[in-house]
Amino acid sequence: MRTFIALTLLIGTGIFTALFFGFDLKEASTTLEHDDEQTGIRDETIITFSHVVAEDTPKGRAARRFASLVEERTDGEIKVEIYSNASLYNDQNEYEALKNGQIQMIAPATSKLTERFPRWQVLDLPYAFPTYEAIQEAYEGTIGETLLKEVEQDQMKGLTFWYNGYKQMTHTNQPLLQTTDFERAHFRVMPSPVLKSQFESLGASASELPFNKTYTNLEVDFVNGQENTLSNIYSKKLYEKQNHLTVSNHGYLGYVVLMNEAFYESLSEEHQVIIEQALTETTDWIRRHSIEMNDAHLRAIKRDNLMDVHYLPNRQKQAWQQRFETVYNEYELMIGHHLMREVKRIQNEYN
Ligand code: LMR
Repeated sequence: MRTFIALTLLIGTGIFTALFFGFDLKEASTTLEHDDEQTGIRDETIITFSHVVAEDTPKGRAARRFASLVEERTDGEIKVEIYSNASLYNDQNEYEALKNGQIQMIAPATSKLTERFPRWQVLDLPYAFPTYEAIQEAYEGTIGETLLKEVEQDQMKGLTFWYNGYKQMTHTNQPLLQTTDFERAHFRVMPSPVLKSQFESLGASASELPFNKTYTNLEVDFVNGQENTLSNIYSKKLYEKQNHLTVSNHGYLGYVVLMNEAFYESLSEEHQVIIEQALTETTDWIRRHSIEMNDAHLRAIKRDNLMDVHYLPNRQKQAWQQRFETVYNEYELMIGHHLMREVKRIQNEYN
């Protein structure tokens, strides 16, 4: 009987205390430990960023820089997963994958948009932009603005332009200096009709091939020359198949950074601001550092004797430019007077 009374008293006191002071669930929940194996407690957004070049290149390093800025500033709420060297998608299918939402971000060379948007060929015109300042004005001024607007038709968000460098010519077994050196040569080009015409105007022929097929096509001798930046020539070891390099600076290779628009719109305003800010900083960084990276690769090519390096003399450059006039005439209508006028204005300002 005494036990029964003690038990009743204990339960009664418990109920009275709980009713009087309340059950402090808030306090209880903050002191509870999370189960470490439980994933997905905090939502994480993944940005899959696919590109085709090596890690140690301007684009490869800029992608990593952008990823760490975004991850740090969103406190890990956004994670940028980078797939380099065409390990996920190559330059022939990455645009479609972005459009379909299979990935969220790409940064193709601007030439790769010309099939869909022919006016983008303005950036491929040979000797269009004579200095780095001229390139910046093209990308960040009227030309860039006009071109970025076009991609909206494809539900793409054109975020910024990234820099790589001037393209140089390489060939398997002969220096490319005189226009006659181009006769019978066959070049790999990116998919842009202007680039094909550029080589045809010099008396050569050209085939459009994906970047990651360039080495093997040089190896089997399907093509015997190509044009690219020093960082791409070096990082893809194209020097193993090419004996001659002509420093000609005859065209510029840069990138457009694109995001799937629906994905971008699905992000919170705060995250959009962080992404845009990270891109602005990364663009500033790549604009400055791409120049020294390409210079370093040229020094390495010379130091290790990887190719015979020739510099295009001014006299030959003028001969090339004379041939390129036909390219300007051929594409004026397709590119449009507005953009062509802007190219001429930039040329006059920086020449
Ligand atoms: C190429 O195809 O040569 C370039 O677009 C590669 C790159 O992305 O720099």
